[in-house]
Parts: sequence; structure tokens; C-alpha cells
Amino acid sequence: MKPETTTPESSSSNEFYMSDRDFEQISRLASEHTGIVLGPHKRNMVYGRIARRIRSLGLSSFSAYLAYLEQHSREEMSNFINAITTNLTSLFREPHHFHYLQDQLLPELRQLNAGTKKLRIWSAGCSIGQEAYSIAMTIKRAGFPSDWDIKILATDLDSNVLETGHQGIYPADHAAQLDAALRKQFFLLSADKKSVQVVPELRKMVSFKRLNLLEKWPMKGPFDLIFCRNVVIYFNKDTQRVLFDRFANHLRVDGRLFIGHSENLAGVSDRFKPLGQTIYRKVN
Ligand SMILES: C[S@@+](CC[C@H](N)C(=O)[O-])C[C@H]1O[C@@H](n2cnc3c(N)ncnc32)[C@H](O)[C@@H]1O
Repeated sequence: MKPETTTPESSSSNEFYMSDRDFEQISRLASEHTGIVLGPHKRNMVYGRIARRIRSLGLSSFSAYLAYLEQHSREEMSNFINAITTNLTSLFREPHHFHYLQDQLLPELRQLNAGTKKLRIWSAGCSIGQEAYSIAMTIKRAGFPSDWDIKILATDLDSNVLETGHQGIYPADHAAQLDAALRKQFFLLSADKKSVQVVPELRKMVSFKRLNLLEKWPMKGPFDLIFCRNVVIYFNKDTQRVLFDRFANHLRVDGRLFIGHSENLAGVSDRFKPLGQTIYRKVN
């Protein structure tokens, strides 16, 4: 998982030459293919991330890498995209969302969907899956009857993080802060105690799929809730406007949208009503 950082990652900034033009080209490609805006303050981060690709391909400069990317776009574009994304996440990140889910929303949905006995949830920009598994744990703990059909879709455009999510294997310290009972119920500790794996019961609830939010979405919805947290912060306002309109189209009326702590919908979408703490209700 790649956290956000502005210092070169495990490389010396003199190792390969990156001109202003190289950086601009990388920013343009990132924006076109992912929506991610790489401003000048991201230059060191970009240097470190792309330097790794240059090294592993045995190339000698950023311009050589960009030429390679152009010629081998089919093979290299996904590595480029995987390098550019920031995947910072954690279990029960922004815990107030899970308290709201547990105390208010799940009891409400249990009544509302009693006829269909279905729940559909989307974790959009799921990174290594810890958001989706946190939702799954909250649902399990709420004790829905076993005949309910509950599915969580977890999507991201970075293929590496999806693989980790699918395996549900994390360093043991990722689960260390969890309540002991929760850890015991939902994680298996490896023999060497260095990693944990999410129990099959929870993994069965989550489907991991590659999806670029800028492209066509194959699923129709409607979802009862959508989590898209700490994703649009990297996009410009125009991209955000289009995206939140599409999210509204994929949520049922009254469905809830959860966004990240430094994101908000003011001036971006009037199809949601804020409920506080970056939780929104779809109104039209
Ligand atoms: C910082 S992580 C957030 C993870 C999680 N939602 C959370 O809040 O903990 C942002 C994720 O958005 C994904 N992402 C960025 N641009 C995307 C796009 N255009 N389509 C789909 N996912 C994207 C990245 O790959 C990354 O895994």
C-alpha cells in the first residue's frame, strides 16, 4: 500500500533526470487516465514512484520511461497507474461512519428492506479492502438473519490493491488496534504471527472488481449505500461533479453516501442533503 508522501520514496532524486516537461507529461497522463491531479507539490512523490518503474525496467531517464510507456502502453499503463495511485487506508478509518452505520442506518435498513431482505453496498476506491471489510464486520455484528442477501462491491483501478483485498491478508499490526473480541471473531493469525487473514465468512460478502471511476460502470445498482472516501480529493471539481451525479444515479432515493473527512459536496452536487460528519442522503 502506498501512502501519500512528498519525499522521494527510497531513491535519490539525482538518480534519474526528470525535466519539467517529463513531469507535465506524467501529470497529463495521470489526469487523463485516472482523474488524479498531480500538482507541482507532488513532484517528489511522482519522482519516487516512477523511479521504481524506471529501475525495474532497466531504463536510464524519465524521458526514456515516457517513450517506453507510449510504445508499450498496453502492458505498461496499468503499472503506471498502480504507481500513481495513493492507497492509504485502515480498518475502521473515520470511525464515526461505522458508528452511524451500526446505531442508525443498519436498524433503519433492516426495517426498510424487510420485504426484499437485500442489502447492496459499494466501496468505490476501496484500496486494499479494509473499508469494505470494516463495513462487513459492522453488518455481521448487527446480526442480520442468515436469509438476508447482503453483498458488498469493492472497486478500485489499482490492480495490486485489489489482489491484496481479495486475499484479505494484512500485516498483523493493521489489526492490532482493534478490539480483541473483534480481532478474534474476524481475523486468523498466521503461524509466524506476522500477518492476519480476514475470515472466509467475511471474505464471501465482498467482491473485488477493477473499475476506473472515470469509465463506464457495468453495474446498474441501485445501492443502499455508497462509500467513496478519500478518492475525489485527488480529482478536480469538474470530475467530482460528474462523478457525484453518477453516484446519485446509482443510489436509491434516501440512500446514503459517505465521503472522506476533507471532502464535501458544496458546489459539487445538489442531489444530496448533508446529514453531518461527511454523511449524505440522496434526495433526488
Ligand atoms: C486514499 S485511497 C482511499 C481508500 C479508502 N476509500 C479509504 O478511505 O480508506 C484512494 C483509492 O482511490 C483509488 N482511485 C484513484 N483514482 C481512481 C479512479 N479513477 N477509479 C477508481 N479508483 C481510483 C486509488 O487507487 C486508491 O486505492
